[in-house]
Amino acid sequence: MELATQRTKWLGKAWKFFEVTTSTQDEAKKWVQEGAPHGALVIAEEQTQGRGRLGRSWFSPPRKNLYFTVALQLPSSSPPLNTLSLLAGVAVAEALRSHFNAQVFVKWANDVVNSDGRKLAGILVEGFKDHLGKDWALIGIGINVNLTEDELPEELGEIATSLQILLGRQLNRFQVLSAILASLEAWWEDWTGQGIEPLRKAFPQLDWLKGKQIRLIFPSGEKFEGMANGITEKGELKLTLRDGSELYFAAGEVTLRSLEMPFKT
Ligand code: BTN
Repeated sequence: MELATQRTKWLGKAWKFFEVTTSTQDEAKKWVQEGAPHGALVIAEEQTQGRGRLGRSWFSPPRKNLYFTVALQLPSSSPPLNTLSLLAGVAVAEALRSHFNAQVFVKWANDVVNSDGRKLAGILVEGFKDHLGKDWALIGIGINVNLTEDELPEELGEIATSLQILLGRQLNRFQVLSAILASLEAWWEDWTGQGIEPLRKAFPQLDWLKGKQIRLIFPSGEKFEGMANGITEKGELKLTLRDGSELYFAAGEVTLRSLEMPFKT
């Protein structure tokens, strides 16, 4: 684990490793309630109840991937919590590009995907108050690292991929974690210090949805179709409708389907 945190100043310096647990999100929350420091890291080799967004589960077999959560204490004034998934997506994508030369993109707001839109990493952000009333964010990240095509369950075969499949070689998972933690720490400092402007500047080069036809679906079932057109200064997705008008959507409000993919997302 020391290898994984040697590039950071404070993120992950306090850590807990679990051979197997239900979900690193649960362990991190418990630890914060017991007094974990800002930047605490929980990592597991295997999760029995790995959680995705919208009540989905996250495929978490042992020895192949990365499953971890960082617990971050929110300063008294910070950008909206829903921009944190974008922050984590950009941090992961940049780390994978610069250290492993992986052609990956951010699919607003929560996914890191390859050029075909197949998912390599998922991000789950949960906010809560500790017993002192302080606000925390738990950023949970799952990355498919050394999964082969054969090891992807059938139902994920069309929508997911891994770094090994993308790069054609196995990676050292600690090196992947180390690169991501360093990137995440730098992005957190920018986000708390300068707001989301630096993120907004970095996003266009990583924006997988840009120019694609998509459908956004609210939990109520209400749907909007149009062309994805980048993000606003608040990190909202811009959707250009057929009549040329623009709508803005905050992360967490909507589910998204790409209409240009042969498979569902
Ligand atoms: C998604 O794409 O729906 C988000 C997936 C997030 C998965 C990670 S794995 C580590 C952390 N623990 C969990 O139970 N979920 C997140």
